[in-house]
Amino acid sequence: MGELHGKRILLGVTGSIAAYKCPELVRRLQDRGATVTVVMTEAAARFVTPLTLQTISRRPVYTQLFDPREEILHLTLVEEADLFLIAPATANFIGKAASGLADDLLSTLFLAARGPVLLAPAMDAVMWDHPVTRGQLRQLREAGIDIVGPEAGPLASGLVGMGRLADPEAMIAAAAECLVSRTALAGERVLVTAGPTREPLDPVRFLSNRSSGKMGYAIARTAARRGAHVTLISGPTALPLPFGVEVVTIETAADMAAALDKRFPDSTILIMAAAVADYRPKAAETRKIARRSEGLRVELEAVPDLLAQLRPDRPRQLMVGFAAETEELVPRATRKLRSKQLDLIAANLVGPSLGFDMEEIALTLLDRTGGVRELGLLPKTVAAGRLLDAVVALRQKA
Ligand SMILES: Cc1cc2nc3c(=O)[nH]c(=O)nc-3n(C[C@H](O)[C@H](O)[C@H](O)COP(=O)(O)O)c2cc1C
Repeated sequence: MGELHGKRILLGVTGSIAAYKCPELVRRLQDRGATVTVVMTEAAARFVTPLTLQTISRRPVYTQLFDPREEILHLTLVEEADLFLIAPATANFIGKAASGLADDLLSTLFLAARGPVLLAPAMDAVMWDHPVTRGQLRQLREAGIDIVGPEAGPLASGLVGMGRLADPEAMIAAAAECLVSRTALAGERVLVTAGPTREPLDPVRFLSNRSSGKMGYAIARTAARRGAHVTLISGPTALPLPFGVEVVTIETAADMAAALDKRFPDSTILIMAAAVADYRPKAAETRKIARRSEGLRVELEAVPDLLAQLRPDRPRQLMVGFAAETEELVPRATRKLRSKQLDLIAANLVGPSLGFDMEEIALTLLDRTGGVRELGLLPKTVAAGRLLDAVVALRQKA
């Protein structure tokens, strides 16, 4: 049984060149068990024909607000859907949706929708980067609309950049996540750490690592969507702040320790996804170190293990750690799970083309009861959902 079994998806298609991917998307949604009804804008019909989508979806395709077949189509179509997926969503559609314009069937349906809505933007990088587009997406996120993608890669314009329609599997995963109960983590106070730390050498230089923060941010977002109160303690990242999450920004491991001290007692689940420094310069110079032809020796000291210093109040507080290893993944993660007395550890291999700063991750989950589960390579957003499923399962065992 597919993850969308029995779900009714209303698929809105707008006038992006990526609309040519829609027949395949409809097929894949159907393969996962969904029934798909398609609504298209006039511009979309220039890129892919209603006949094609009608044939693949085996259902009527709607394009007109004033449809002689039904009087209040703009209300009934969304009422009958479990999820409203708009893919691809043009810059024009995003602008209309953010401003509440309802001048055709699709934009009117958007305003009438009260269930989950997922947008998959697709446009050229220059349009994606426009501050107006960014502002409108922020507005839509704040209104509770979920967004999947876009991805970086070759664009129809010949440029390479951000703006490609999300991969169909990422859209399906995001659609499934939109349909997950929004109360699975209700009552939990989830504290997530994410990103790297920076350990200063002098006022302008620091030691850091390649953590992008993507995994921790995905966990924070997903936990918030599932009903938890979420606080994210984040090292420096280039990521947009997740909606509906309280964010505390920090820089050094010492800042992280202080933020944890303050926030941990109130939390019920701690998820340490940050890549906190293991070593830091013993003393940071107060003035910029000048260039010296003889080179420079820097003495590093160990940073105290932040997890090992916390004293959880069990069974109220669950502790989840990450183990990024370049080898011997399971034995090392098992040792960490035990020595740090964690409830769950998410282990992953890291290397030049693995783990850090990638969109996908292959996690192995090891829990305190001896359970070991390999999740396989998944988008970080999906892996975040699976990790939270495992936390909920452990909570129920406690
Ligand atoms: C060949 C071609 C490709 C286009 N691709 C995109 C696109 O990928 N994303 C986008 O936002 N607009 C794209 N446009 C512009 C939209 O089609 C245009 O803004 C249109 O008004 C969108 O209408 P709609 O949002 O009602 O579907 C493209 C236009 C042309 C001619």
